Amino acid sequence: MTTSMPQLRSVVLGVGAYLPEKTLTNDELAKLVDTSDEWIMQRTGIKERHIAAEGETTSMLGEKAARAALADAGLNADDIDLIIVGTSTPDWTFPSTATQIQAALGITHGVAFDLQAVCSGFVFAVATAEKFLRSGSHKRALVIGAETFSRIIDWTDRTTCVLFGDGAGAMVLEARPSQGGIEERGVLTTHLRSDGRHRAKLHVDGGPSATQTVGHLRMEGKEVFRFAVGHVTDVVKDAFAATGLMADDLDWFVPHQANRRIIDMSAQKLGIAPQKIIATVHLHGNTSAASVPLALAVAAADGRIKRGDLVMLEAVGGGFTWGSALIRW
Ligand code: UT7
Repeated sequence: MTTSMPQLRSVVLGVGAYLPEKTLTNDELAKLVDTSDEWIMQRTGIKERHIAAEGETTSMLGEKAARAALADAGLNADDIDLIIVGTSTPDWTFPSTATQIQAALGITHGVAFDLQAVCSGFVFAVATAEKFLRSGSHKRALVIGAETFSRIIDWTDRTTCVLFGDGAGAMVLEARPSQGGIEERGVLTTHLRSDGRHRAKLHVDGGPSATQTVGHLRMEGKEVFRFAVGHVTDVVKDAFAATGLMADDLDWFVPHQANRRIIDMSAQKLGIAPQKIIATVHLHGNTSAASVPLALAVAAADGRIKRGDLVMLEAVGGGFTWGSALIRW
């Protein structure tokens, strides 16, 4: 005899995003370092990136994205009892950016904390929030990816400074009863990985404990490219294996927005049709943990992602870290 256990599932109620006002185009970058619009477009697909104003911090970007997601969900800040912020560029070493966003939103109940998985931060935060909600410990989560990578870029290094930008994106998740079927709305499965042996390939050369400085981003681009295309497909295949779904079942593929070539090659390797790819990297460059929710917000707002659609999120970042989240929208 089987007893049907009551289950909870994390359902997406809304998404939102925010990009700082100031843009920096490829042509403007070509005045700072030896590069060109042609090289950047051809190698990365990036057209421009947004740069936070002086004094505009990661938590300020995150707060704006959070308010947009709450509005999209039709909820008030008070309805939220869990805030998780994926970021590698916190306002301060401590307290967490999440607590600053919590205060800015006027929330004094529940819990807020940061999660550090670099470019995989948002997918890691979705996976974490989903486990909290599914356990019944919390009811509604704000999951945020917010970054000001412009602050840790070496603006004299053309191999990295053309790639990154600032921004924030957010998602509201709510715990709802579910029978557990794959056709029901919500986060169906998440898969996270890390392998700490690769620090040298993508890291920041500063930190409170090691150097007492903030440091600058350093990257062996080719190595990261190879790893991204080579490994990120593992976690997507894990999501298919866990649900019995296949690439053909997906409506949308929303990968980390680092480089258009990585996005296209990953989709091709997974057998995902090009028209199912959501790519916004040309608009904002690599915004690290903010990139996936930025792409989601664009595609939800323009009507591509609709209720009931099957959406695969995927990201890879420093650490290395990598992960997937499969969502019935
Ligand atoms: O979220 C994870 C974070 N990072 C990433 O996802 C980035 C992963 N890596 C990449 O996206 C690519 O490796 C890059 C876009 C960084 C570089 O593309 P690539 O096709 O791997 O180029 P490359 O590093 O092999 O460089 C090719 C040439 C080199 O010149 P030589 O040695 O062939 O003479 C570079 O010095 O391009 C040169 N180069 C540039 N030229 C103009 C490197 N950066 C630039 C630049 N403008 N900004």
